Amino acid sequence: MHPLIASSRLPELLRAMPKAELHMHIEGSLEPELIFAMAQRNAVPLAYPTVEALRGAYVFNNLQSFLDIYHEGTLVLKTEQDFYEMTCAYLARARADNVLHTEIFFDTQTHTNHGLDAETVINGLHRACEEAPARYGMSASLILCFLRHLSEQEAFESLEQALPLRDKIVGIGLASGEVGNPPEKFARVFDRARALGFRLVAHAGEEAPPAYIWSALDALKVERIDHGVQATHDSILMQRLARERVPLTVCPLSNVKLKVFPSLERHNLRQMLDAGIVATVNSDDPAYFGGYINENFSRSFAALGMDSQHAYQLAKNSFEVSFLDAAAKRRYLDQLDGVFEEFAALN
Ligand code: HPA
Ligand code: ZN
Repeated sequence: MHPLIASSRLPELLRAMPKAELHMHIEGSLEPELIFAMAQRNAVPLAYPTVEALRGAYVFNNLQSFLDIYHEGTLVLKTEQDFYEMTCAYLARARADNVLHTEIFFDTQTHTNHGLDAETVINGLHRACEEAPARYGMSASLILCFLRHLSEQEAFESLEQALPLRDKIVGIGLASGEVGNPPEKFARVFDRARALGFRLVAHAGEEAPPAYIWSALDALKVERIDHGVQATHDSILMQRLARERVPLTVCPLSNVKLKVFPSLERHNLRQMLDAGIVATVNSDDPAYFGGYINENFSRSFAALGMDSQHAYQLAKNSFEVSFLDAAAKRRYLDQLDGVFEEFAALN
């Protein structure tokens, strides 16, 4: 336990502390400027005349209204170089927020449905991740998400297409429109992914009720729940999440933008931490939701009155529940302790 650090130095601490990001969709890091640059070089027509007009359209009522615009942005991605550059831009930006490790969500189905090969996507993303230690001083790995609004059969096809590139992917996840597409729809393809040795996660309880979190755990047997914020409506589930130390990758700014909570002040992140849930803070789709990871930290801490002990817990959780090996986790946790000790020494 570190001593409490003065609240006047909390903003600086939140920025400086080493952290891992475990819930960030790479297509959601595509900034309007990059969308325009790629549209031009790939001769893709855009529905908005300027960067400002596109950014101005980023007003959402719910998850689906976001997914519609997000899909428009993905239409500019055509080549392996595009996927590489998109990932480099995110890595550089994340490293500026002292993200030392990231596990990046992507999907192939969006892009294969636009006529691209899964290899184009995976090879571009992977090249950036492989270069991350030397270029940015951080580590990065990839999690392939199935799109849950599509069929089980299509998820199986996406998995099969990725198998020749198996070594470039650490895990499998589940994203896209949640309500009406419960986890159990994908139980068999998650069984297959597990048998192949993939680590497993799934979005659950973002908009849909706690039953989706139960079935992500019991039918898909995932190791982490992405979002999971609806859990606070089910006290038995809350007890289970705390007892079994099931990690939740929470995305506060996303939840407010998509109207899961009416304001950050009403977000349940602090309630979760105080109930002993292993939560982490993440940016989800930072180009669309008004901020990268440090913006999620600083605004949530200001809105919820959290302190340096919450900060330490969140950063520690992020490394502990990552898919890194034990030695890498230890190195990052030592760096985290070092930063907290430096701040405590100046108290
Ligand atoms: N939820 C579900 N699917 C997504 C999201 C999200 O927040 N972002 C990108 N795909
Ligand atoms: Zn997400």
